Amino acid sequence: MRLQDKVCLITGGGKGIGAATAIAFAREGAWVEIGDVDTAAGQETAQAIENELGKRAVATHVDVTDARSVARWAADIMGRHGRIDVLFNNAGISAVGPLHEIDQSLWERVMAVNVTGVYLVSRAVLPIMMDQKSGSVINMSSCIAALGLMRRAAYAATKGAILSMTKSMQVDYAPYGIRVNALMPGTIYTPFVQDYIERSYDDPQSAIQGLKARQLGGELGTPEDVAMAAVYLASDESKYVMGTGLAVDGGVTAGKFS
Ligand SMILES: NC(=O)c1ccc[n+]([C@@H]2O[C@H](COP(=O)([O-])OP(=O)(O)OC[C@H]3O[C@@H](n4cnc5c(N)ncnc54)[C@H](O)[C@@H]3O)[C@@H](O)[C@H]2O)c1
Repeated sequence: MRLQDKVCLITGGGKGIGAATAIAFAREGAWVEIGDVDTAAGQETAQAIENELGKRAVATHVDVTDARSVARWAADIMGRHGRIDVLFNNAGISAVGPLHEIDQSLWERVMAVNVTGVYLVSRAVLPIMMDQKSGSVINMSSCIAALGLMRRAAYAATKGAILSMTKSMQVDYAPYGIRVNALMPGTIYTPFVQDYIERSYDDPQSAIQGLKARQLGGELGTPEDVAMAAVYLASDESKYVMGTGLAVDGGVTAGKFS
C-alpha cells in the first residue's frame, strides 16, 4: 500500500483522470476526498470506491473558482481527518479556437478554473501542510505547456501558467517538507477529449484516428495511465522528485520523424 492512510484531496474527481486517480489512490490505501462542481459525478466515484473497498471516499460539491466553497471544503476535511497529505489540483476545462475567436468571457472562465482554481485550493491547503511539515501537491498541467497545438492558445496559456507556478511553488514550500510537481499528459481519452472531438470535427471517428497517428505508440492514453503517475508523485517513492513536470504523453513531446 503506497498511500496507506494518507488523506488525499482531488479536485475534479468526478470524471476522467480525476475519477481514475481517486480509485487508484483508494486502492493504495488512501482516504480520498473528492471535490467537484458536478456533485452527481463526484458521488458516483465515491460510490464506486465504496463498492470495491468500503467507505474510503467522500464527495463534496466544490467549485474551485469560489474561495468560500474551497475554504469550507478544507475545513470539513480537517474536521474529518485532522490532516491533509496530498492535494491533486486536477479540475480543469478546455477552451477551443484561435485566440482572436476566443471571447473574453471564455478566456476569463478558463483562466479562473484552470489557474485561479489551483491558486485558491493551494492557498487553502498549503498552510495545513506547512504546519505538518509534509505534503505532496500535484498540479495538472499538460504537454501543451511544451508543445504548440492548433486552436488551443487560451487553454495552453493556463497549462503553461500551471507549470511555471509549480516550479516557483516548489522553491517556496521545500523548506516545509512539501513537494510540488506537475503532470503533463498528452491526449487522454476522457469525457473532456470526447467533448472536444465532437464539437470540433464533422467526423469524430477519423479525428480519433488522426490523434492516434500523432502518438509514438499509436494509441491515446487512458485515465489510468495518468492516475498511476499521480500515485507515484503522491507517494513517498517520489521523495526526490521536486518541481518537475512529468510527461505522460505516449511520446508526443519526444518527437516523431515519419
Ligand atoms: N484529457 C486529456 O487529454 C488531458 C490532457 C492534458 C491535461 N488534461 C487536464 O487534466 C484535467 C482533467 O481532465 P479530464 O480529461 O479528466 O477532464 P473531465 O472533463 O473528464 O473531468 C474534469 C472534472 O473537473 C470538474 N470540474 C470542472 N470545473 C470545475 C470547477 N470549477 N470546480 C470543481 N470541479 C470542476 C468536472 O466536473 C469534471 O468532473 C484537466 O485539468 C485537463 O485540463 C487533460
